[in-house]
Amino acid sequence: MAKKIILTGDRPTGKLHLGHYIGSLTNRLKLQDETEEYVMIADAQALTDNADNPEKVRQNVLELMLDYLAIGLDPEKTTFLVQSMIPELPELTVYFLNLVTLARLQRNPTVKNEMKQKGYGANVPAGFLTYPISQAADILAFKADLVPVGEDQLPMIEQTNEIADTFNRFYGPVFKHAKALVSSTGRLPGIDGKAKMSKSLGNAIYFSDSEKTIRDQVMEMYTDPKHIHVKDKGKVEGNVVFTYLDAFDSDKSVVEALKKQYRKGGLGDVEIKKRLIDVLESLISPIRQKRERLAKDPKAVMGILEKGTKKAREATKKTLAEAKAAMKIDYFR
Ligand code: TRP
Repeated sequence: MAKKIILTGDRPTGKLHLGHYIGSLTNRLKLQDETEEYVMIADAQALTDNADNPEKVRQNVLELMLDYLAIGLDPEKTTFLVQSMIPELPELTVYFLNLVTLARLQRNPTVKNEMKQKGYGANVPAGFLTYPISQAADILAFKADLVPVGEDQLPMIEQTNEIADTFNRFYGPVFKHAKALVSSTGRLPGIDGKAKMSKSLGNAIYFSDSEKTIRDQVMEMYTDPKHIHVKDKGKVEGNVVFTYLDAFDSDKSVVEALKKQYRKGGLGDVEIKKRLIDVLESLISPIRQKRERLAKDPKAVMGILEKGTKKAREATKKTLAEAKAAMKIDYFR
């Protein structure tokens, strides 16, 4: 049986953090053993709202590669690629642009949200408004079966499948639906208790963070504001330290015992924070060390990306040829 095809990606606008880990990295790690997995660094997409900051995008391509390799994505199993070096993707995007209305683009809830955050209004760059179409090209060019992403990406997959349907209706069956794979653990809140961990909110813990930074971050974590004295009864729900222990502590019975004691009173915030510091440090420290080692040879790391991109391009060439034949623009063959 043919292996399932996985395609997923990140914009190179910052390093990866624990929110990414819970949201999609653990799924990617699991899937690389049993599937044909592609991981795309979406630099062209990153430029849709960073057109004036190419240096940032360029630097973060390497940072993402370091994160991927350090957490254990294995170039023997996973193909890494950089979006801008595959011209078949923008070419497919051009044809997909005909299949989507402006009204539909303006309804995409994730884009709407981002536009509000950035205060674009009517002055939204056309490339930004249309990036879901280019993302559809990313996914469909690889004929991906599964797309492991955070839940904010669900509208993108929905729009991708609409484009596949319209294309097939106009030109014949070329594309199939992709399925989003969202983490069952749900989304990880930021250290401040806000619903989402994100770079722009400044509430994230990174794989590249030092031991001291992790300790400081955990010490600052939002707990139960009414839990003032050790003897007070404390709330576990919405208490970020417990949310993180649930997500990262492999010893569930210890966590349950701590919750019980915290609810009853007699367990201080410092105690549970100390436990979390140990748990996070034992997860992150080997990753951090591997990352530092890899960072000493950026050329080798970029070489892995180059090799992967070449391989990935072959897959997209095939799909583009098929799509163009279906569209009757395959002249000169
Ligand atoms: N939009 C995704 C993000 O912001 C990145 C991305 C680009 C992507 N192309 C993709 C994700 C294709 C999955 C599949 O994180």
